[in-house]
Amino acid sequence: MPSQYQNTYESWKNDPYSFWDKAAARIDWFKKPSQVFDSDTGGWFVGGEANTCYNAVDRHVEAGRGAQIALIYDSPVTGTKRKITYAELLDEVETLAAALADLGVGKGDRIIIYMPMVPESVVAMLASARLGAIHSVVFGGFAPTELAIRINDAKPKAIISASCGIEPSGVIAYKPLLDEAIAMAAHQPDFCLILQREQQDCALIDGRDFDYAETMNATRATGKKQPPVPVKATDPLYILYTSGTTGQPKGVVRDTGGHMVALAWTMDHFYGLKAGEVFWAASDVGWVVGHSYICYAPLLFGATSVIYEGKPIGTPDAGAFWRVIDEYNIAVMFTAPTAFRAIRKVDPDGALMNNYNLDNFRALFLAGERTDPDTLHWAREKLQVPVIDHWWQTETGWVIAGNPLGLGLVEVPPGSSGRPMPGYDVQVLDDDGKPIARGNLGNIVIKLPLPPSCLPTLWNADARFKDAYLTAFPGYYTTSDAGMIDEDGNVFIMARTDDIINVAGHRLSTGAMEEIITSHADIAECAVIGAADQLKGQLPIGFYVLNDGVKRPPEELEAELVALVRAKIGAVAAFKTAIEVKRLPKTRSGKILRGTIQKIANNEAYTAPATIDDPAILEEITAALRGRGLLK
Ligand code: COA
Ligand code: AMP
Repeated sequence: MPSQYQNTYESWKNDPYSFWDKAAARIDWFKKPSQVFDSDTGGWFVGGEANTCYNAVDRHVEAGRGAQIALIYDSPVTGTKRKITYAELLDEVETLAAALADLGVGKGDRIIIYMPMVPESVVAMLASARLGAIHSVVFGGFAPTELAIRINDAKPKAIISASCGIEPSGVIAYKPLLDEAIAMAAHQPDFCLILQREQQDCALIDGRDFDYAETMNATRATGKKQPPVPVKATDPLYILYTSGTTGQPKGVVRDTGGHMVALAWTMDHFYGLKAGEVFWAASDVGWVVGHSYICYAPLLFGATSVIYEGKPIGTPDAGAFWRVIDEYNIAVMFTAPTAFRAIRKVDPDGALMNNYNLDNFRALFLAGERTDPDTLHWAREKLQVPVIDHWWQTETGWVIAGNPLGLGLVEVPPGSSGRPMPGYDVQVLDDDGKPIARGNLGNIVIKLPLPPSCLPTLWNADARFKDAYLTAFPGYYTTSDAGMIDEDGNVFIMARTDDIINVAGHRLSTGAMEEIITSHADIAECAVIGAADQLKGQLPIGFYVLNDGVKRPPEELEAELVALVRAKIGAVAAFKTAIEVKRLPKTRSGKILRGTIQKIANNEAYTAPATIDDPAILEEITAALRGRGLLK
């Protein structure tokens, strides 16, 4: 059958409000929206009232599908497997929500969730949604300082956490990190709910910390169950902090109605999932992919979702993904290209695939960073299924451009992340805001209004929202991605236009790392760039200049800076290299030429900008990289 993509995109373009009105019919509303979109406020499904937890859980049970598996927990790092039906999930969320309500949490209150990949993390998100509270999940690999920044900004009434997480390197005690963050923060939560894990439990602080299991048991004993609280379609469901250009992350706000409508649409139209099938997003609930495709979208659609606490390699081997696909009959999978690069490095022939039955596996979707054509071809050849790159951002919560399996695949060349999805009018502009001819590089922007699910604002920072996204190109949303659109309408995302880098699919700010490095007493200034890396896509490299008169052995200082970034941002930053240089290349007006340093580190051709202060410094940078064996 020919692809329905073009027709569908055009039907949206011709009448966007009817398109989204129809999509909204899949959602159970307590009160139907009176208006699809309000151009004055930018709100979607205005006048509507609903509850995301009700739509993700209750209604499937009410429809008689309580016995269907909602969540599969597979944890090779603990040797645990568990299946949770929709009826069991309902019992968990209505009990946890009742317990939280008893402890004083209500509509509009914030709850921070700082947890490893255990089912309780998803239960906590849903319980928050059930109460009309606003959750903010913080990725477990972030250090206490990052957690403290989020506590101060979101001002949570409660924090839900666990005693520990398990990484291949060993057990990571979460509780000391949580205690340190709370000690650091100006805002104090009323209470913490702590899931004790048998791999390592932790001490609880009297009066502040409650044991998760005990609290659940006590609530169950009372028979209390929290009904879903109706909230406005435009009320926030969650805040997800993501890297901005400074140490202060951006609190991306997700609304209730638009989010549900867009996500439910994607499951079949984009990912091609059918009712009753199993969907697996191998990501972490701390990232947007985990929010949308481990928790919300599969459940809104009534599918089965997998929570995988493990890695693509080493838990126990590079066949881990194939085992999970086989064992749970996964139809469609979603992960980051870096995971496939990791597998390919260890098992280049894909020999471990032969141990498993992948006959029912239908498609692999990749996002979070550009899928390099090499990895794309390898995955296609080995898996013999469509391998689909798709582009999105924390800010949108769902795919901006991709190849829609559900509507029917279109021709997309390797290196492109596909065609714009309904809702997105993607364009390429030059720095003056003028349209650029097809096939030429420029700033990728989206014509306003943004579709449902995209951020209405930043938490407590409306001016920053306008400044960061709406000011550079009036009438358009600035994606901060650069790239092009070819003659056939395929979008190519090539680079960020800001200082964000992408390390193993994790979005990190080099500006935030620079702030930390320059906080060291011996450092005068520094520049952090993202150097190309075969496994992780990019890796940060820091170049620093010492204060006048300071002499330190470079190995010693590097170890201190690496430890500092690890302590302040977290292991996830993967900051392992700091190189001493005498000077940094700058323009005559004093702007550090990070782009040029990056090109040198990546062994790419470059021309020294005409405004460069002293071109000789570029040679010094080249020599410094060669001295460390990072450049031939
Ligand atoms: N809690 C605590 N620490 C964590 C953590 C968590 N939830 N997640 C990662 N870390 C730590 C790791 O242990 C590692 O620490 P180390 O420096 O002490 O070894 C560090 O953060 C970097 O982790 P990671 O980025 O996972 O790199 P890795 O080298 O351990 O593994 C891959 C490389 C490719 C296997 C891994 O990045 C991966 O599976 N990526 C999948 C991509 C993904 O999930 N992307 C999310 C967006 S879709
Ligand atoms: P995040 O908000 O963490 O999802 O990161 C969003 C950024 O990751 C985007 O702005 C892009 O720079 C990059 N990105 C995500 N998906 C892709 C993709 N498929 N191709 C290229 N870049 C991508």
